[in-house]
Amino acid sequence: MCGIFAYLNYNVNRERRYILEVLFNGLRRLEYRGYDSAGISIDSSLPASLSRDPNSPLSLRVPPLVFRQEGRIESLVKSVYENVAATDLDLEESFCAHAGIAHTRWATHGEPAPRNSHPQTSDPGNEFLVVHNGVITNYQVLKETLVRHGFTFESETDTEVIPKLAKFVFDKANEEGDHGVTFSQVVLEVMRHLEGAYALIFKSQHYPNELIACKRGSPLLLGVKEVSEGIAASSFLDFNVLKNGKPKELFLSSDANALVDHTKKVLMIEDGEVVHLKDGVVSIFKFDNDKGKNCGALSRTASVQRALSILEMEVEQINKGSYEHYMQKEIHEQPESLKTTMRGRLIRGGSCKAKSVLLGGLKDHLKTIRRSRRIVFIGCGTSYNAALAARPILEELSGIPVTMEIASDLVDRQGPIYREDTAVFVSQSGETADTLQALQYASENGALCVGITNTVGSAIARNTHCGVHINAGAEIGVASTKAYTSQIVVMAMVSLAIAGDTISNQERRDAVIDGLYDLPNKVRDVLELDQEMKELAKLLIAEQSLLVFGRGYNYATALEGALKVKEVALMHSEGMLAGEMKHGPLALVDENLPIVVIATRDACFSKQQSVIQQLHARKGRLIVICSKGDAASVSPGGLCRIIEVPEVVDCLQPVINIVPLQLLAYHLTVLRGYNVDQPRNLAKMELLNERFISRLRLLGQVILVILLLALKVEAYVERYLMLFLMICDFCPLWVAWPDVFDELGTLSNEIELGNSCLDS
Ligand code: UD1
Ligand code: BG6
Repeated sequence: MCGIFAYLNYNVNRERRYILEVLFNGLRRLEYRGYDSAGISIDSSLPASLSRDPNSPLSLRVPPLVFRQEGRIESLVKSVYENVAATDLDLEESFCAHAGIAHTRWATHGEPAPRNSHPQTSDPGNEFLVVHNGVITNYQVLKETLVRHGFTFESETDTEVIPKLAKFVFDKANEEGDHGVTFSQVVLEVMRHLEGAYALIFKSQHYPNELIACKRGSPLLLGVKEVSEGIAASSFLDFNVLKNGKPKELFLSSDANALVDHTKKVLMIEDGEVVHLKDGVVSIFKFDNDKGKNCGALSRTASVQRALSILEMEVEQINKGSYEHYMQKEIHEQPESLKTTMRGRLIRGGSCKAKSVLLGGLKDHLKTIRRSRRIVFIGCGTSYNAALAARPILEELSGIPVTMEIASDLVDRQGPIYREDTAVFVSQSGETADTLQALQYASENGALCVGITNTVGSAIARNTHCGVHINAGAEIGVASTKAYTSQIVVMAMVSLAIAGDTISNQERRDAVIDGLYDLPNKVRDVLELDQEMKELAKLLIAEQSLLVFGRGYNYATALEGALKVKEVALMHSEGMLAGEMKHGPLALVDENLPIVVIATRDACFSKQQSVIQQLHARKGRLIVICSKGDAASVSPGGLCRIIEVPEVVDCLQPVINIVPLQLLAYHLTVLRGYNVDQPRNLAKMELLNERFISRLRLLGQVILVILLLALKVEAYVERYLMLFLMICDFCPLWVAWPDVFDELGTLSNEIELGNSCLDS
C-alpha cells in the first residue's frame, strides 16, 4: 500500500538536514502499511550567483533533487547521505521556506525499482514532480497521447502520466501567452483528465516553495503547526489559521500516523478538493469536472473555506511501548481496546444490573433497520470474519434474515441489493477499495448503508448513512487483531440495539450485556496462555499445514485463526466448518497433520465432541480449544493437546477463542523468523483490486482491436487475426463482447476528449 508525505516550512528557518529527517521520519511512520521502495525530493543548492527568486527564468533555477531507492527506507536514507557526501551538498544550508515530498511505494504497475518509485517526474529537469497513492485507470490512453506530443516515459507506472500532463498543461498555457498560470490551475486541469482513485502531491520548480495536494478516493490529510503558537490549540476552528501568512509548518500525508508527531490540527481533505500551499496560506479549491471543459482557457475556481479539526490520536498510541512488535502489543492491548469500544455505550440498570446499549451513531436509524427485509454484512478478510462471528446473534435478536457478502464477490456478481435492505460495511481502515466499491454499488441500489469502522473520517465513515466507530485505537500491525475483537463487540451491541427492549428477549439481552461488561477481564485471563501458545508454536514450527475446525459461533474463529496463521506465519492453514468435515476434509486426516478443533461450551458442543471422536479414530493430531474444566470431556483418553479458555456467553465466545490463535500465529511467525508486522506481499489496506486489473486488461484488448480496425486489413485477414487472438487467451474479449462495445464507446470518447484537449 503506497504512502505519501510532504513537509513545507514557511517563514521559519530549517536546515536541509532537518528537512531530510522530517521527510524520513514521515516515511518511517508509513512503513507499517507495507512497501517495497521509497523516494523523496528536496531542493538543491543554488550557485552563489543565482537567487531563489521565483520570477527568475527557469534556466537560472536548479532542478530539485530526487532520490529513489528500492527496498527499505533505511537504504534510501543511506543512499541519500552517500549522495550528499559525494556531491558536497550542504546539509547545514538553511531554508526560510522549502517544500519537500516523500513516498513509500507498493508495486502495482511495474516491478520495485528506482525508475518506478516516486516522485515520478515530468522530464529530466524535474519541472513537475508527483507522489501518488492509488491507481490511474486511464493512464494508457493518456500515455499514448503524451507520447504523440513528444514525451518519453522511463517507468512502467500509471503515475508517470501525471507530472508529464502537468508539464504539458503548463507549457501550453505559456505558449498561449498565459504566463500567470497558477499551480492550482495547472493541477485542476490535470485532474480533469485523470480517472481512478488517487491522492496526489505536486512539487514544481516553476512554483518554488509551493505544494499542491488533491484527491479522489484515496485518503489525504493536511496537518498545520503554527510555529509561534506553542502548543496552544485555542484557534483550531478558526479558518484564519489556514489563511494567515504567519510562520508555520505544513504537513501532508495519506495517514494520520505520520502527522501526530508534529501536530494534531488537521484538515481531512475531501474528494475533489485541490489544496494549494503557498506563502503560508492554504487555499482550497473544489474540482468541478464540467468547469472549463469546453473553454480554451484554464478555469479559475473560487476557493472554499474549511476548518481544522483535532486528531484524537496520541503518539504513544502508535509506538510499540515495551513490546517487540505491533502485533504483539495489539494482541495484549485487547482488554483495554474492548473497554474503549464499549465506553459510554453500555447502560447499567438499578443495582448494577445490565440494562441496554446506546449507539449514538445508530439511534436515529434503528426503526428503518428494523423494517429492513434483510441485513447484508459486507467486508473483506478479517472484517468479513468478524461479521460472520456476529451473524448468529444478530439473526437471533433481530429476527431479520442476515446474509454475508465478501465485498469483491458482491461487486463481481453485481448481486441483488434492494432499497429494503440494510447493508452493513465492516472495515477496520474504512478505506479498502473492494469494500468502497461495494458501498457505492449498494448506495446506488438504494439500500440503507451502515458503516462499522475503526477510522474516523475514513471514506466508509463519510459515505455511509450512519454507523458505529469501533474506537479500538490505531492498529499498526498488518494482521488485524484488536480491531477484530472490537468489531465483534460492536456488532453484538448493534444486535442488542436493533432487538430493542421486549419482554420476550429480556433474559437473553441481559445475559449478553452482562457478558459484555465482563469481557475485558475474561480477555485478560485468556492472555495468560501466552507462554503455552509459544510452547505449542515451537512444536508446530516446521509444519507445512494446519487445519482449524469450528462451527456455529466459532466457524468465524476457525476462518480467522487460519487467516492469522496464513498471513503472518506464512504457513498454509485452512479454517473449516466442522459440519463439513465428513464431506471432504476427512480425507486429509492422518497422524501428521495438526488440527485445531474449537469445542467450547455452546449449543454445538456435543456435535464438536463427536467430531473430535471421529478425528481421533483416524489418528488425527488434535489440539482442542475447550472451556475451562472440560479437558476430560473433549480429549478421549487424554491424547489431545488441550487449551482451556474462560467460558463466556456463547455469542461472545469468539472474542475469547480467537486470542490463543492470535498468540499462536504471532509466536509461530517470530520463531520462523518472518516479519510479524509487515507480512510478505500484504498491506494494511488494499486499494488496487482485481476489478481494476481486469479493466486494464480489457482496455489493452480494446486498444488491440482498434489497432486492427485502424489497419483496415482485408476482411478475411482480419477474421483470421481475430480467431488467432481468441485462441491466444483473448477469449474474455469474445465472452465480454457486449461489454467491449460499451468500453469501445467510452474509450473513443476518452480518446477524443484527450486528443481535443491536448491537441487544442
Ligand atoms: C460520538 C463521538 C464521540 C463522543 C460521543 C458522545 C465522534 C466520531 N464520536 O460517538 O467522540 O464521545 O458521540 O456522545 O465524533 N458514522 C457513519 N459511518 C460509520 C461510522 C460512523 O456514518 O462508518 C457516523 C455515525 O452515524 C455518527 C457519527 O459517525 O453520526 C459518529 O459515530 P460514533 O463515533 O460511533 O458515535 P458515538 O458513539 O455517538
Ligand atoms: C486486506 C488486509 O488488504 O484488507 C487484511 O491484508 C484486512 O488484513 C482486509 O483484513 C480488510 O481490511 P479492512 O481495513 O477493510 O478491515
